[in-house]
Amino acid sequence: IEPDYAHISRWAANYIAHKINAFGPTPEKPFVLGLPTGSTPLGTYKELIALHKAGKVSFADVVTFNMDEYCGIPKEHPQSYYTFMWTNFFSHVDIRPENVNILNGNAPDPAAECAAYEAKIAALGGIRLFMGGIGPDGHIAFNEPASSLTSRTRMKTLTLDTIIANSRFFDNDVDKVPKTALTVGVGTIMDADEVLILVNGHGKARALRHGIEEGVNHMWTISALQRHPHGIIVCDEDATAEL
Ligand code: GLP
Repeated sequence: IEPDYAHISRWAANYIAHKINAFGPTPEKPFVLGLPTGSTPLGTYKELIALHKAGKVSFADVVTFNMDEYCGIPKEHPQSYYTFMWTNFFSHVDIRPENVNILNGNAPDPAAECAAYEAKIAALGGIRLFMGGIGPDGHIAFNEPASSLTSRTRMKTLTLDTIIANSRFFDNDVDKVPKTALTVGVGTIMDADEVLILVNGHGKARALRHGIEEGVNHMWTISALQRHPHGIIVCDEDATAEL
């Protein structure tokens, strides 16, 4: 528990940089990092960029896999997760473009796209560290309530709650929010060696309570983290209001 958002961001960025540096990645043995979008990780990305610019971490031998991507909007759309990642992070660090993996939400064969994503992760020996956030309903990536806790990468229909929550990025117009997305599964995330979840603000307090203090439950997919041998939640004081 950190006092506020700035401290969450600094903690998470320092942790990620430490993990990469301790691993000592090389082109033959890259560090495989899972990454999220959303407003919560923005501060962490800023801190990671600052650490990079200060010479304290390099992403040259880091391979990234993003959690999810909307279907039905072009990847150049200002609200695509592809645009988000390049604008807010990748363009500012030394990552090699070929080491960036983001699901193609417009793939002609979404099932094949998802299977290839899983195969690529497996071929690299799995994800070392998966950073994520949660929705107010406790979803992780786009694993909406009632997602199987053993789910793999697939297409999901977004719930009305998520569509409403994310409409703030689409002119507050729910009709403009994509209704489906490709997302890694809960099982995909749980396979990572470590999972680091950022939770910020009162709006996530209920989800955090369900995630930590209630039973493991597929209606609050973040609760799967209770069964992870190395799951970390970094939250601010406000998010603990219901604990
Ligand atoms: C979306 C993303 C999630 C993210 C959630 C919370 O639904 N698919 O990965 O955790 O938003 O976003 P925010 O951090 O903006 O609250």
